[in-house]
Amino acid sequence: MTRVLSGIQPSGDLHLGNYLGAIRVWAQLQHTTDAFYPVVDLHAVTVPQKPGAIGTATLRMSQMLMAAGLDPDACTIFVQSHVHQHSECAWLLECTVSFGELSRMTQFKDKSDRQEFISAGLFTYPALQAADILLYDADEVPVGDDQRQHIELTRDIAERFNSRYVPTFKLPKAVVPAAGARVMDLQHPTNKMSKSLDSPRGTIDLLDDPADVTRKIKSAVTDSDGEVRYDIAAKPGVSNLLSILGAASDRAPEQVAEDYSMYGPLKADTAEAVVELLRPIQARFRELEADPAETSRLLAVGATKAQTVASATLQRARTNLGLLQG
Ligand code: AMP
Ligand code: TRP
Repeated sequence: MTRVLSGIQPSGDLHLGNYLGAIRVWAQLQHTTDAFYPVVDLHAVTVPQKPGAIGTATLRMSQMLMAAGLDPDACTIFVQSHVHQHSECAWLLECTVSFGELSRMTQFKDKSDRQEFISAGLFTYPALQAADILLYDADEVPVGDDQRQHIELTRDIAERFNSRYVPTFKLPKAVVPAAGARVMDLQHPTNKMSKSLDSPRGTIDLLDDPADVTRKIKSAVTDSDGEVRYDIAAKPGVSNLLSILGAASDRAPEQVAEDYSMYGPLKADTAEAVVELLRPIQARFRELEADPAETSRLLAVGATKAQTVASATLQRARTNLGLLQG
C-alpha cells in the first residue's frame, strides 16, 4: 500500500487555504493509503514561542485536524516531538545536506526576512522535514505548491545518503492537488492566503462564524471590468473566488465561471458554499475541545504506531552509516 506522509505546524488556527490545499486531501488519502500525519511542533520552535504556548497550540491543532476529517482509526496522527527519532534522524540529514542547498530554500529566505532572531534551526528546518518524511519510507507527500522545493531537497538528501553509504531511504515525491492547490488572500489576491494575524480580512479561519465568512467573501477584492472569467494573471480576485467555489463544490473553476455573469451572485454563492463546508468541522471541533483527555489518548496511540516505523528506519540509517552499535 502506498505510504503517505505530511505534516503541519501548530502555529495558529487552520485557514481555508490549509484546508483546501492540504487537509482535505489528507482526509481523502487516509482511506486509500497508509497515511502518517504528524503535528510538527519541533518545526514551530524554529521561531521563538511564548513559554508554555506550544503545547496548548499542539493539542488544539490536533483537534482541528481531527475535526477537519483526519480519523485516528484510518490514519496515524501524532505529535512530532513524541517520536524522538525525528530529531535524531534530522542530525544525520543535516550532515548530508549542504549549506548552499539550505541557503537556496525560498521558505527560509521569506521567513528569515520577517524574523529579528534567525535561529540556526530555521535554517536547518528542511533537514528535519526530510527526517519526518524519510523515517516513514513515504512514497508520496501531499502538500501545497509552496512545499515542492522542500520535497525536492528531501529527495536529494536521500539520494546522497544512499550513494554515500548504502541504499537506506526511499525517494518520496510531492503530490500537489490541482483544484484549490493555492488559495489566495481575499484582500490581496496575488498573495496566498496565510495566517489570519497577517491578514485578518483576507483570511478565512476554519473556526470563523458564518457572519464573518460571509462578510469577508462579500468584501473580497475583485476588479472593475465586471466579467466573470477564470484568468489568474488578469483577474486574480475573481479567479480565486471561482477556485474556492469550485473546490467547495467539486468543480473546475472554468466550469463554475460559466454559471455567472456578475460578481454579486458569485460572491453570495461562494460565501454560502464555504459556510456549509465549515459547519460540520466547527461542530466536531467543539466536541473534541470539550474532551482534551480523549485527544491526548488518541495522540498517544498515534505516537506508538509512528515509533514502530520510525525506530526501524533510524536503526537502518545508523547501521548503514556505520555508527558503532551500542
Ligand atoms: P502552513 O500554514 O504554511 O504551515 O501550511 C500548512 C499546509 O497548508 C502546507 O501543506 C501548505 O502548503 C498548505 N497551505 C498553506 N497556505 C496555503 C494556501 N493559501 N493555499 C493552499 N495551500 C496552503
Ligand atoms: N514545512 C511544512 C510547512 O511549512 C511542514 C512540514 C514539516 C511538512 N514536516 C513535513 C510537510 C513533512 C510535509 C512533510 O508547511
